[in-house]
Amino acid sequence: MASIDITATEEWAALAHHARELRADGVHLRDLFAADAGRAEQFTSTLGDLVVDWSRQLVTRETVGLLEALAERAGVRERVRAMLAGEPVNVTEGRPALHTALRGPPDARVRIDGADVAPMVIAELARMGRFARAVRAGERLGSTGRPITAVVSIGIGGSHLGPAMACEALADRGRAGVDVRFVSNIDPSDLAAALNGLDPAATLFVVVSKSFATPETLANAAAARAWTAAALGDQAAVGHFAAVTAEPDRAVGFGIAAEDTFAMWDWVGGRFSLASASGLALMVAVGEEPFTEMLAGMRSTDEHLAAPMSAPVLLGLLAVWNRNFLGMPTRAVLPYSHRLRLFPTFLQQLEMESNGKRVNLDGEAVACDTAPIVWGAAGTDCQHSFHQLLHQGTTAVPADFIVFARPDADTAGTPDAGKRHEALVANCFAQAAALAFGADSDDPHRVLPGNRPSTVIMAPELTPSALGQLVALYEHQAVVQGAVWGINSFDQYGVEQGKHLADAIVEDLDTGAARPGSGLAPSTAALLTRYRHLRGI
Ligand code: F6P
Repeated sequence: MASIDITATEEWAALAHHARELRADGVHLRDLFAADAGRAEQFTSTLGDLVVDWSRQLVTRETVGLLEALAERAGVRERVRAMLAGEPVNVTEGRPALHTALRGPPDARVRIDGADVAPMVIAELARMGRFARAVRAGERLGSTGRPITAVVSIGIGGSHLGPAMACEALADRGRAGVDVRFVSNIDPSDLAAALNGLDPAATLFVVVSKSFATPETLANAAAARAWTAAALGDQAAVGHFAAVTAEPDRAVGFGIAAEDTFAMWDWVGGRFSLASASGLALMVAVGEEPFTEMLAGMRSTDEHLAAPMSAPVLLGLLAVWNRNFLGMPTRAVLPYSHRLRLFPTFLQQLEMESNGKRVNLDGEAVACDTAPIVWGAAGTDCQHSFHQLLHQGTTAVPADFIVFARPDADTAGTPDAGKRHEALVANCFAQAAALAFGADSDDPHRVLPGNRPSTVIMAPELTPSALGQLVALYEHQAVVQGAVWGINSFDQYGVEQGKHLADAIVEDLDTGAARPGSGLAPSTAALLTRYRHLRGI
């Protein structure tokens, strides 16, 4: 699927001209709302349980029409269709990007290499369910006959961020007394913290790695095995491990039994894999029903994707509008929800590993900026951290606010939970208003210029289904952005070089000196010398 240079199209030129006009006319959100009493209503979309209020985006109806024309010209609809149909949209690796099949309807007729995908997915979900039920019921026993009471998921990137985020988001769901923890960083402090207070006889590790070759994950898994073996013996240790991988032979090589090895498939990208067995520890933590509800929420968003200017398409186009036409290089994601505090970090991989690209599908340098820098933090904490810049900085930052009408179900018993939740919601709405409409003052230090765009996404409550809908919404809007830019949102070659250099440096550290021809840059060798001095080696 060749890509066109979208910046050379009439549709792109029309949007650039339109943006210049808006700027020249000094259009302000105050004016847009004053001129159109129905703006808030007309510029709000719904998607399942989600209300998506994009009325504070710096757009007019003309903008929306021009963005729709851009999407048409870029072939966004065709790219989405091809992705959903399981075509090899990941052109550089010759693979489909079929994360939607992980939560598809049982009768979905999507095929990979001539085989129906749905039965494979359903079978793996059933295996996951049996595993989770056994652990949650205390029927999964360790090598000494003691029930497993702690599960530690070891993975990184897409094998960590989604499951860890979802486990926090659904912290009030289905707990069965199993202590579920996550380890990702090779920094020994991460695994040490996770092992703190755990009993090897009652602890099971889930090694999550699509490649089963990621250095951090293998190093942590080996350390966890040594920790277990020290207490239980080598032979017994392996009974305390499960694996989730697209490379089952490598898991067997690590010593993990086939019946405890769960499938990931190469037609699902790591950052899109929350609905896969990478969420095994999540299912242990929350139970099968909430996990299945999350999948159903994802599916409900998937089913809206193909509709013209559906919320995922609209959000993707608004991101392009802010990035490429209003010249805003970053986007802040601000979940006004303590339990969604890991959501911005999850989105950083989803969006920046997908769209942090510089060449198009044909390998030619793109002629426009691609992924914005996605960042953020939970509200209301963010207001006491970086909102000063959002309101009075010299760089305008479009913001996505995420908020829920009802407090988390299990907070009802805490004093004044309802009032404090109302204050949370009030602060969210207030921040969106202050960013949009600003504040005048005779004191220049107190002027807020406003005209800073945002979208408010609201759902009734942070339920497994709402979480699924939200995740799928962001997955698809990232794909829409990539489709407009004509890039491959599904590979990640940019992360390989760092891994290769690290291997050479580790080897150098092991051998005690830079090997001739090791290829280490002199600056790196100098750092190594200083490191050795500071370390006293
Ligand atoms: O960051 C590079 C990357 O390959 C991600 O795309 C992936 O989610 C992560 O590393 C972990 O990879 P694996 O699941 O193969 O261990």
